[in-house]
Amino acid sequence: MNLAYRLAYRLGLTPWEHAGRVFADQLATLLGAVAPPAAGAKALDLGCGTGDHSIELGIRGWSVTGVDAVPLAIDRARAKLPIAGADVRFVLGDVVNLPAYVERGYALALDVGCFHGLGDDQRAAYGAGLTAVTEPGAQLVLFSFSPGRRGPLPRGASRADVERALGGWTVVGDTAMDTVGAPWLLATTEPRFFRLVRR
Ligand SMILES: C[S@@+](CC[C@H](N)C(=O)[O-])C[C@H]1O[C@@H](n2cnc3c(N)ncnc32)[C@H](O)[C@@H]1O
Repeated sequence: MNLAYRLAYRLGLTPWEHAGRVFADQLATLLGAVAPPAAGAKALDLGCGTGDHSIELGIRGWSVTGVDAVPLAIDRARAKLPIAGADVRFVLGDVVNLPAYVERGYALALDVGCFHGLGDDQRAAYGAGLTAVTEPGAQLVLFSFSPGRRGPLPRGASRADVERALGGWTVVGDTAMDTVGAPWLLATTEPRFFRLVRR
């Protein structure tokens, strides 16, 4: 999948960067429901791409680390910094082995479209790594396509898939994205937002 993403960034075929206002508004509502961060509270953006969601979290007061495996995406994310008043950094790394790339003690993680493209073993490693680097009570907001075969698109993940990979976490929110007004391709994937809390 990394090869596909490398190519996608190289060719500028990044439809996730054009998900539109409808998507952004629903994500903002979900992030708004997360308790405001205490001073210095740390957030992770998993598969951060060119970093817009990381920056959004930084503006909301989180100390953010965005992680992505594609060098060009990380270069583009870094080129957006600094953002006045926001504490954000970008790390080239693999979400399947998080402890090798990031610190510990994160209180929030965001995943917009990364987990749902991973294979089963990768998802299990992602879950173990995320548990290792977050603190008890940490929250995860995860956006996923519903499972299905859609050509080159990510395979998607169900609630059961999310629960299987994140054994130490409890799903506290599972909402179908309202796709009215969303780009056609996004609407066909029956996307969902999951919210989880680390036990
Ligand atoms: C659909 S894009 C979403 C990017 C970003 N979250 C956004 O919403 O704009 C998925 C991202 O996950 C990254 N990714 C996929 N597998 C990864 C892995 N194993 N480790 C780190 N990043 C990965 C890709 O490079 C890509 O940037």
